[in-house]
Amino acid sequence: MTSPDSLFSGTTVLGVPRPGGPGLLERHTVSRIGYGAMQLERLHGDRAAALTVLRRAVQLGVDHVDTAQFYGDGVVNGFLREALHPDDGVVVVSKVGADPNPGGPIPMRPAQRPDELRASVEDNLRSLGVEQIPVVNLRRLDAGPGLRAEGDQVVDLDDQLAAMTAMRDEGLIGALGLSSVTLAGLRRALPAGIVCVQNAYSLVARDDEDMLDLCVTEEIAWVPFFPLGSAFPGMPKVTAEPAVQGAARALGCSPSQVGLAWLLRRAPNLLLIPGTADLDHLEANIAAGAVALDDATLASLDIVPSRSAGATLG
Ligand SMILES: NC(=O)c1ccc[n+]([C@@H]2O[C@H](COP(=O)([O-])OP(=O)(O)OC[C@H]3O[C@@H](n4cnc5c(N)ncnc54)[C@H](OP(=O)(O)O)[C@@H]3O)[C@@H](O)[C@H]2O)c1
Repeated sequence: MTSPDSLFSGTTVLGVPRPGGPGLLERHTVSRIGYGAMQLERLHGDRAAALTVLRRAVQLGVDHVDTAQFYGDGVVNGFLREALHPDDGVVVVSKVGADPNPGGPIPMRPAQRPDELRASVEDNLRSLGVEQIPVVNLRRLDAGPGLRAEGDQVVDLDDQLAAMTAMRDEGLIGALGLSSVTLAGLRRALPAGIVCVQNAYSLVARDDEDMLDLCVTEEIAWVPFFPLGSAFPGMPKVTAEPAVQGAARALGCSPSQVGLAWLLRRAPNLLLIPGTADLDHLEANIAAGAVALDDATLASLDIVPSRSAGATLG
């Protein structure tokens, strides 16, 4: 949790300058460059390496971490529990709407019913070792890459919001976000008090510009997943884009840093959660907050076409 001292502060509670500057996630001031923990699944056999990545992120000013119970069937949440201390002031954001599916063709399965949403919040509370999760995203299956709901997993959004707001009233979750949602779904959910939206979005995957604009207007944080295009082979990669590579050469930074710097410039409510299990990549991603894109470079990146249509996971 963020202490009142750090509100609107340019440094984290540990006194580290905020990479990317300060941003707002509901009532929490966080660094605009955060961290997505999904890639830590790969380190399930190397706990020490996973903890080192998380500690380094905090030391470098990250105080917003995205996770899920279905990342390594609770393993990643266990890493967070061990690595992050209450005094670090890290806002942990988890998601429900899917459950672990160990041994399955993909490691997650839909879990959209209201009773499953509650069970998933309880699983997250246990594995994270906390009494309240600061923000929980309701992970719908409506938009973007990945699973779609079938059978009893097709659940009315209002029924899910009722379950989520009840858990917020009980104090199990601090605030409510949405993920993989449509523009119509977001509009419908606004009265429930949505603090963030997490859809797939990057320089090369820009299907949701209208939703991003609505989030700017409604002062909702836009926290794109796949900000670099993900680790999945079927998805368009930001670093493969010639304009991005050209900008990186001209600026003396890496293509990943150009992609992240472009996102930071795209909108003031945009918070980054790039995923990595690699310490050098982590440091590079955090340093992207210092990459200045001049107007000409920005213009060359703005005209890169969205390549997400037809892209599939894997
Ligand atoms: N709401 C949802 O449904 C949802 C879905 C997917 C993901 N997420 C969240 O969003 C976060 C970000 O998405 P993501 O991790 O899937 O994709 P991403 O951040 O777009 O890309 C991750 C990939 O980029 C590589 N990478 C990262 N930094 C790099 C750098 N500086 N140079 C070169 N390669 C780099 C990583 O490999 P290395 O590990 O080798 O660096 C990994 O292969 C996830 O970690 C997760 O927390 C949410």
